[in-house]
Amino acid sequence: MASVTSLSDSVQQHLASALTATLPEAAGSDPLLRRSDRADFQANGILALAKKAKANPRELADQVVSQVATGDVIADVEVSGPGFLNITIADRAITENLAARYADESGRLGVPHAEHAGTTVVDYAQPNVAKEMHVGHLRSAVIGDAVVQILEFTGEQVVRRHHIGDWGTQFGMLIQYLDEHPHELDHKAARVTGEEAMSNLDRLYKAARKLFDSDEEFKTRARRRVVDLQAGEPKTLATWQKFVDESKIYFFSVFEKLDMEVRDPDIVGESGYNDMLAETCRLLEESGVAVRSEGALCVFFEDVKGPDGKPVPLIVQKSDGGYGYAATDLSAIRDRVFNLKANSIVYVVDARQSLHFKMVFETARRAGWLGDDVKAFQLAFGTVLGKDGKPFKTREGETVKLEDLLDEAVERATAVVREKAGKVGLTEQEIVENGRYVGVGAVKYADLSTSAVRDYKFDLDQMVSLNGDTSVYLQYAYARIQSILRKAGEARPAAHPELALAPAERALGLHLDRFAETVLEVAESYEPHKLAAYLYQLATLLTSFYDQCPVLKAESPEQVENRLFLVDVTARTLHRGMALLGIRTPEKL
Ligand code: ARG
Repeated sequence: MASVTSLSDSVQQHLASALTATLPEAAGSDPLLRRSDRADFQANGILALAKKAKANPRELADQVVSQVATGDVIADVEVSGPGFLNITIADRAITENLAARYADESGRLGVPHAEHAGTTVVDYAQPNVAKEMHVGHLRSAVIGDAVVQILEFTGEQVVRRHHIGDWGTQFGMLIQYLDEHPHELDHKAARVTGEEAMSNLDRLYKAARKLFDSDEEFKTRARRRVVDLQAGEPKTLATWQKFVDESKIYFFSVFEKLDMEVRDPDIVGESGYNDMLAETCRLLEESGVAVRSEGALCVFFEDVKGPDGKPVPLIVQKSDGGYGYAATDLSAIRDRVFNLKANSIVYVVDARQSLHFKMVFETARRAGWLGDDVKAFQLAFGTVLGKDGKPFKTREGETVKLEDLLDEAVERATAVVREKAGKVGLTEQEIVENGRYVGVGAVKYADLSTSAVRDYKFDLDQMVSLNGDTSVYLQYAYARIQSILRKAGEARPAAHPELALAPAERALGLHLDRFAETVLEVAESYEPHKLAAYLYQLATLLTSFYDQCPVLKAESPEQVENRLFLVDVTARTLHRGMALLGIRTPEKL
C-alpha cells in the first residue's frame, strides 16, 4: 500500500522545522495550521509561542518566514495581521500529490491506515423478532453500516453485532400459540418472500394476543412457556427458532432492499447471552455494584432520579427472577470485552435509549468490565419526522412499512432517471438498476448527511431532487465525469505537474487532498455526516471547475490530459467516499 503524505502534513512539517530553527525551545509545538480563504493555509500558532517566549509576535513571525524552505511544496509564505502566516502551495506540489494518489494501485487514493488500529464492535441494525421494523431500525442500519465501512477502511478490525430483540416475555405467548396451532407458519411455497414472512408473523402475533387477552387458561400456559424458554427446554426452543427464522427472512429482505450486507453469523441477539445472565447478576451482587431492592436486583446512580426525586435504578433482575434488557446488555459487554477483545464498542441506537446506555456503561465500569482502556460509545440518533414535523407515521397513524417506503423511493428515483435516459442512452435494464441505486442512495444520504443525533424530516421529494445536498447530485457529478472520460477518445488522463493551475483547479486539488484527513477524522469521531459534507463540497467545487475550465476543449493537449486526470481523481474520490457511505455510483446516469 502506497500511502501519500498529504499537503497539509508536508506544510506542517516545514513549519515545524522552521519554528525549531528559529526558537529551539519551540520544538514540538503545534503551528496550528488551518485551511484559509485568504491563502491555501494559515498558521496561527506563532501568537501563543511569542507570548510564551515574551517576543514580539510579528518579529517572531518574520524570523520564522525566513527559515521556511520554499520551493517544492510551499510557493509563498507571508506574515499577516498580528503574526499569522499565510501559506500558498506550489501548483506543482498539488498536481504531484494528486498524481501519487492516482497511482495508488490499492484504490485507496493514498489514504494511510489509522495510526492506532484496534478492534471495534459495532452494534447496529438490531430489529426485533416477530415485529415489524420501523424507520428507527433503518437509521441504525444505515448509520451503522457507514461507520463499519469507514472504520474498516482505516484498518480497524471491526466485529459487527446485530443485537436483535429475540428474547423476553412476549415469546411465551407466541410459542404457546404456535404450538397449539402448529400449521400457521407452514409454507405452501418453498420460497417465502419478506413481505409474506412479515404478514405471517403479524397475523400470528395478533391472534396470539387476542387469545392471551381473552382466555385465562391460555394466559397461564403462555406464562409457563417463558420459563421453559429461559430454561432451554428443547421443544420450546424449537418453536422459538421458527419465529426467529421467519423474522430473519423478513429482515434479510429489508436489508437486501437497502442494498446492505448483513451476515447471519453477525446476528447475535439478546438470546445469545442467555447463558451469561445468571453469572452477570451474581458478579454484580457479590461485588456490591448491584443491591436487592423490593426483591429486584438494582444498580443506583447519584444523578439518575425520577420526577418525584426518588432514584431510578437500573434493574438487572426483576423481582420475579426474570432478566431484562439491561442484564443482556451487561452480559454482551462482558462478551465483547473479554472474548472479542474490543477496544471500542459503538452502539448505534435511538437517542431515546440514552439513559439506558448511560446506566449500563456506568455499571460495567463499576464492575470493572469496562476499563479505562475500553471506549463505550452510544452513537445516538434522532427521530425520523414526517413532512409535518411530527414522528413519521402513515396518514392513518400507523408505522410506515419500510418495504413500502423503499419501494416508493425507488419508484420516484426511477422516474427521475427515466427522464434523462434518452439523452444518456440507457437501456431499460440500466434504468431499473440505476433507479434502485438512486432511490436507495437518496434514503441513505438523507439519513447520513445530517448529524445523527438530530431529528430529520423524511421528505422524498427533496431526497430525489437533482439540486442541493442530495445523493443524486453527487451521483450525477460522478456520471458526468465518466461521460467526459468516454468522450475523450484518444486523449487519456495524465498528470502534467509543469502546468500552472487555474484557481478552480487549485481549489479542487486542495480539497481532494483532504479526503484522507476527512476519513480518518470521521472514523475517529463516528460522524459520517462530515464525510457527506466533504463529498458535497467536492461536487460543488467540481461544478465551479467545469464553469471555469474547459476539459476536452482546453488550450493544449497537455492541458486536456491534465484536466482529464483531475476529474478522474475526483471521480475516484467520489466513488470511494460514496461507497464508504453505502451508496453506489452508476457509470451512466
Ligand atoms: N432491539 C432494540 C430496539 O429495537 C435495539 C437494540 C440496541 N442494541 C443494544 N445492544 N441494546 O430498540
